[in-house]
Amino acid sequence: MTEAGAQTLTITRPDDWHLHLRDGAALRAVVGASARQFGRAIVMPNLRPPVVTVAQAGEYRSRILAALADARAAGEIDARAAGFQPLMTLYLTDNTAPEEIRRAGTSGFVHAVKLYPAGATTNSDSGVTDIARPRAALEAMQQADLPLLLHGEVTDGEVDLFDREAVFIERVLEPLRRDFPALRIVFEHITTREAADFVRQADGPIAATITAHHLLYNRNALFAGGVRPHWYCLPVLKREQHRRALVAAATGGNPRFFLGTDSAPHARHLKEHACGCAGCYTAPHALELYASAFEAAGALDRLEAFAGFHGPDFYRLPRNGDRVTLERRRWTVPDGHPFGDGDRVVPLAAGEVLDWQLRG
Ligand code: NCD
Ligand code: ZN
Repeated sequence: MTEAGAQTLTITRPDDWHLHLRDGAALRAVVGASARQFGRAIVMPNLRPPVVTVAQAGEYRSRILAALADARAAGEIDARAAGFQPLMTLYLTDNTAPEEIRRAGTSGFVHAVKLYPAGATTNSDSGVTDIARPRAALEAMQQADLPLLLHGEVTDGEVDLFDREAVFIERVLEPLRRDFPALRIVFEHITTREAADFVRQADGPIAATITAHHLLYNRNALFAGGVRPHWYCLPVLKREQHRRALVAAATGGNPRFFLGTDSAPHARHLKEHACGCAGCYTAPHALELYASAFEAAGALDRLEAFAGFHGPDFYRLPRNGDRVTLERRRWTVPDGHPFGDGDRVVPLAAGEVLDWQLRG
């Protein structure tokens, strides 16, 4: 049922096509939240040190599966959630060898390669310093049909923070699209009208993920009554006109746009800090946040395709066979969740009331 005023919304189980699960005690603390909501997730490789080889990706995958088994044994998640599938990625560097890409292509568990411009965001120091450097790796990816995931911001200090995505399109993405016409590209967590327009119009296989927070908030949220660090992420929230363009893209039915939470947990004390970390923690209430955004746009009937169809179709994986139900019920987002080693992590919109809640 998706009519206005409906009390429940049942849709194919969604996947999260952009997720930070961290490692160690933090991984153990957060993995259940994603597993309760989603069937699968594309897991970001920006650990310290980054996941640069297939062997490291395999080890990280084993640690994620072990954390899930632990959460199941502790009664924190049910048997269905314990079957959550982490889809692994490699972190592209200036020196990624084409052989590593070929190994990734045949591994069966590495589904994409992530490009962080060096210094663009959390744990991106080992990222690409010049797009010309990993050329052989990009050619191997095109050959192996392994998607390239882009953190689409230039790092040039001369470019205004709010313009870095638009400038990335001109300086990096357009040439990349021309030079590698068959490479499957995902422009991750887009935040601007320019990015949505580019993805809609570009030639060749390209898609974009959109977070719930970029659909719900504009940059005023960062400064509402004072600096609000839990709304700080990269790419940073933009003006209202951009938020509206993203809502139009997400709710427009175009298969090039799909769900990626970019849930990026940091310990509370590192967010509420003189130099706070970038990242919004949305995993525990991701679908509830997306449902709010789609309902506000009068487009709840478009949520299923955005959340559950377009992603697997682009990644050439089967859509999930089971379903989830959201219920119209007002509830308050908690102030914090455990984050391992005595730390807490504050979810986005802590203390606010949401209108939808995932059943079970
Ligand atoms: C991410 C993180 O914390 O790992 N932070 C963020 O603000 N999104 C990195 C990223 O995806 O840019
Ligand atoms: Zn991210």
